[in-house]
Amino acid sequence: MHVRKKLKLGTMIHGVGEKISDWRHPAMPSDASVSFEFYKQQAQTSERGKFDFVFIADALYINEKSNPHYLNRFEPLTILSALAVVTSNIGLVGTLSTTYSEPFSAARQFASLDMLSGGRAGWNAVTSGLEKTALNFSKEVKVHPNHAARYRMAAEFVKVMKGLWNSWEDDAFIRNKKTGQFFEPNKLHTLNYEGEFFSVQGPLNIGRSLQGQPVIFQAGSSKAGIAFSAQEADAVFAIIPTLEEAQRYYIDVKEQTAALERNPDDVLVLQGISPIIGDTIEVAERKYEELAGLVTIEQALAFLGRLFEHHDFSQYPLDEPFPDIGGIGQNSFRSDTDRIKSEARKKNLTLRQVALREATPRTPFMGTPEQVANLIEAWYEQNAADGFVLIANLPSELELFVEQVVPILQKRGIFRTDYEGTTLRENLELPYAENHYSH
Ligand SMILES: Cc1cc2nc3c(=O)[nH]c(=O)nc-3n(C[C@H](O)[C@H](O)[C@H](O)COP(=O)(O)O)c2cc1C
Repeated sequence: MHVRKKLKLGTMIHGVGEKISDWRHPAMPSDASVSFEFYKQQAQTSERGKFDFVFIADALYINEKSNPHYLNRFEPLTILSALAVVTSNIGLVGTLSTTYSEPFSAARQFASLDMLSGGRAGWNAVTSGLEKTALNFSKEVKVHPNHAARYRMAAEFVKVMKGLWNSWEDDAFIRNKKTGQFFEPNKLHTLNYEGEFFSVQGPLNIGRSLQGQPVIFQAGSSKAGIAFSAQEADAVFAIIPTLEEAQRYYIDVKEQTAALERNPDDVLVLQGISPIIGDTIEVAERKYEELAGLVTIEQALAFLGRLFEHHDFSQYPLDEPFPDIGGIGQNSFRSDTDRIKSEARKKNLTLRQVALREATPRTPFMGTPEQVANLIEAWYEQNAADGFVLIANLPSELELFVEQVVPILQKRGIFRTDYEGTTLRENLELPYAENHYSH
């Protein structure tokens, strides 16, 4: 019999917010993006709620129009290492680019986080959409790889990472003081990888953790992104606004995974949501209006522009149909820009409407704790998600979710009341990452 895994929950800790003006809200500490105290509180609150993991997103290029959070924030592995010390069960997941990193250094960094946290590390592999990122890595913009090449590179990058993480078998370090033998030589494996993009000899200078290898997450929703997940990832992030679209996406990920002869249960589909919770629907609605009211149209245009390679949308009339901008955006955040263009055309939206929809989206997950729990249960039961990542607009919403929504989900038996294990893989009900040399 097929037993459904329990619901999975994560928190994206995102400093002063995903949205461009959240930092101005009275309840938001304006230095949250660089406040260890803030990150610690959010991680500990999430752990109190028995969440599977916290997640730190990242990107590698800013300009003066970037969201405030992007301008001054922690590097993911650094903050996660600090959080490892002040938490005990929760998973620690961070973004690292496959286009602008070296797999040897990346494998070493994540293996170190995994080792020092007792097997709680996860890596969100992203390809870095913004072409000007090249300028921060001693390269010219014109050599920023196109979308397809970035995903080919990502696939190779992951292959090298996994190979390096198997450099040592689990029991390789015997540390026998009497004989003077530190390790078993036949349990050390040199990768000798040569590919289209990378050439890495190995071995890695750190062994395996309690979960074998860090958990691999993936966040691109384009066709190439989904294919990459089906091949390599343990979990995928998406933000999809309706149940029906989310169901289609869910089936797509699971079918592609099964077609590669992997167990579809081993790629978790996690939807990003920003719940707004109130004692009544009116209270929640007022909270949304308050947040949306902080955004000016200029800021909304800048927010929209970033997705399209920082395109300057202020040059077009606001109240006329969304402008025809040709292929701009296709090489950056492809799934977002394709969706925005097609919705604008289908619904005949003006530029102002598009910018405000993107900068201040209305979440369906708005209402009383009971209503939010009902929606979560419906999405989970109807195969639109295996779990959710909370991208809370305000710290109060994470707190309310943990205090008031989690107990409802627990009472209904779809969410844990205590951690099943100590590693991220155990809690996500993912198999231990065996070292293929050990067989
Ligand atoms: C929950 C969530 C977290 C994400 N985190 C990141 C991130 O940290 N860095 C990043 O560059 N993209 C991140 N993305 C993905 C981007 O929003 C974007 O969709 C993706 O990079 C574009 O890839 P695609 O062209 O395959 O769709 C995240 C997406 C989701 C849904």
